[in-house]
Amino acid sequence: MGKVYLVASGKGGTGKSMFAANFGATLAKQGRSTVILDMDLGLRNLDLYFGLENNVVYDIYDVLTGICRIKQALIRDKRFENLFLMAAPPVRDDGSLTPLHMQVLCEKLKNIYDYVIVDSPSGIDDGLVLASAGADSCILVTTPEYSALRDADTLDRELLRLGIEERFVVLNKVIAEMMSAGYAPRLREITSMLRPPLAGVIQYDENIQISTNLGVPIVLKDGTYIQENFERIAGRIIG
Ligand SMILES: Nc1ncnc2c1ncn2[C@@H]1O[C@H](COP(=O)(O)OP(=O)(O)OP(=O)(O)O)[C@@H](O)[C@H]1O
Ligand SMILES: [Mg+2]
Repeated sequence: MGKVYLVASGKGGTGKSMFAANFGATLAKQGRSTVILDMDLGLRNLDLYFGLENNVVYDIYDVLTGICRIKQALIRDKRFENLFLMAAPPVRDDGSLTPLHMQVLCEKLKNIYDYVIVDSPSGIDDGLVLASAGADSCILVTTPEYSALRDADTLDRELLRLGIEERFVVLNKVIAEMMSAGYAPRLREITSMLRPPLAGVIQYDENIQISTNLGVPIVLKDGTYIQENFERIAGRIIG
């Protein structure tokens, strides 16, 4: 039986999709069968981060509404064995999707894959309720800014209310010099502000932005500090 990880944030642009793509690619490289679902309905990005935008025929909306079968919407990434993507629809949900639809889909995927990673829209509204419906665990991606941290804490309360007991924090876009100069909250302060344990810290690095622009997950290249960091973070999360 597989496990479903939701990747969420209170504030937008913290790096959820980047994290979902590279977490999924890391697990797939380790030989684990993985599927990533883009639940940012109407604002899809994950297909671009994998360079698979020309391969989208059916999307997750088509699956959830029964227009196509699960298999028809799974896009296989040829660079990674065992890695599949289900794209978000180009338009926002018209309200016809319910959390139960999502829960059923996740249950079915858990029977096939070791890991199901759900890339959530930012915020704590209906989009989160829908995306989180089948989740066993959540990774909150935040940045070292007070606004993002407060939103992460608000999201954390909402996740708890939704019944997601297992949660982790990943701190992204960290610039060490800013922290040590006192221009950004320090690690100790950040961990004291958030309840879930810190699964990892990812530095701000232009190469990450380049990789999402080029549609090549950065962990594809072995032996870089970023790839090794992702291995460690994935290890802490999946245990
Ligand atoms: N550690 C990092 N260093 C540099 N750039 C980063 C880092 N993490 C993410 N980015 C860049 O920040 C931008 C936003 O990232 P991403 O799309 O993953 O955020 P998101 O949380 O999914 O946003 P949204 O809320 O819009 O869905 C992208 O251009 C990405 O390349
Ligand atoms: Mg995103």
